[in-house]
Amino acid sequence: MRKKIALIGGGQIGQILAMIAAQKELGDIVILEIPELENPAKGKALDLMEMAPHGNYDAKITATSDYKDIAGADVVIITAGRPRQAGMTREDLLAVNLQIISVVAAGVKQYAPKAFCVIVTNPLDAMVYAFSKLTGFPRNQVAGMAGTLDTARWRAFIAMELGVSVCDVSGTVLGGHGPDMVPLPRLTTVGGVPLTEIATKEQIEKLALRTREAGTEIVKLFGKGSAFFSPAWSAIVMAESYLHDKRRILPCAALCEGEYGVKGLFIGVPAMISAKGIEKIYEIKLTEDENALLQKTISGVKKTAEETKL
Ligand code: APR
Repeated sequence: MRKKIALIGGGQIGQILAMIAAQKELGDIVILEIPELENPAKGKALDLMEMAPHGNYDAKITATSDYKDIAGADVVIITAGRPRQAGMTREDLLAVNLQIISVVAAGVKQYAPKAFCVIVTNPLDAMVYAFSKLTGFPRNQVAGMAGTLDTARWRAFIAMELGVSVCDVSGTVLGGHGPDMVPLPRLTTVGGVPLTEIATKEQIEKLALRTREAGTEIVKLFGKGSAFFSPAWSAIVMAESYLHDKRRILPCAALCEGEYGVKGLFIGVPAMISAKGIEKIYEIKLTEDENALLQKTISGVKKTAEETKL
């Protein structure tokens, strides 16, 4: 029997998620939308079924507004919620998206209580915290998609700057999904060569700043709405590692219970995603400067988590 993937939210990111999941044959796909948008979501599902002959995939793609239809899902990816508009911070979305996440958490808890859940909705750090509190799911079962995207952006900008293949750029970005996130140049390599040896200090500072502001750069260009291709792929990579037990080590917002000195908060940390979900969090020995930056982002995450009042 095929795996089942439930996509909660069938907007910009949701529809790309459906397309990539189908092309990768990750399983059958159910898109769940609000009743007012059930028909457009059904249209997207049908369109993807009609893409299959040339896309060369077998997957049943459907859409619904009824949580019963996500019953037994193996993976749930949540993009339900409003995206940013130009001039907004992610935190400006907190009140409205918290209401939406509360509805989603109740539905997922009832119908897909065993699913590995990837939260994409912003403000990410607060939404993944709220989802975890509201469902009470174990920590291995809930992850926020942030670091995987932030690291993709860091790698992309490095490759663009240095004129090298992005495939050879390896690194990580820690912390919250906001302007205080912490790219780690010391631990970034290009084909095994330390970034700090092939880029100048000025170049590295410019790349780190661009990474921290990458979401905003896209929001400004769009004018309306936020990034969707790269967030979708980043969430798929996490889902795929779970479904195929790939045991990839990806920076994810994971519930820390003592790691990095944090208790009870979701922080972007390197985590192994296996068939067990978040199987392991890796603690990196940070320098004093790196740790100071991490502590700053942690206090930001704490503040937004507290604002959920959960
Ligand atoms: N249940 C299901 N879907 C919902 C619900 C709900 N309770 N509330 C809203 N939605 C749907 C909307 O109808 C919309 O189609 O979520 C979808 C969100 O899609 P977009 O508005 O296109 O936003 P998108 O770009 O996909 O971003 C979604 O991810 O990266 C974050 O900041 C981004 O919070 C935003 C989220």
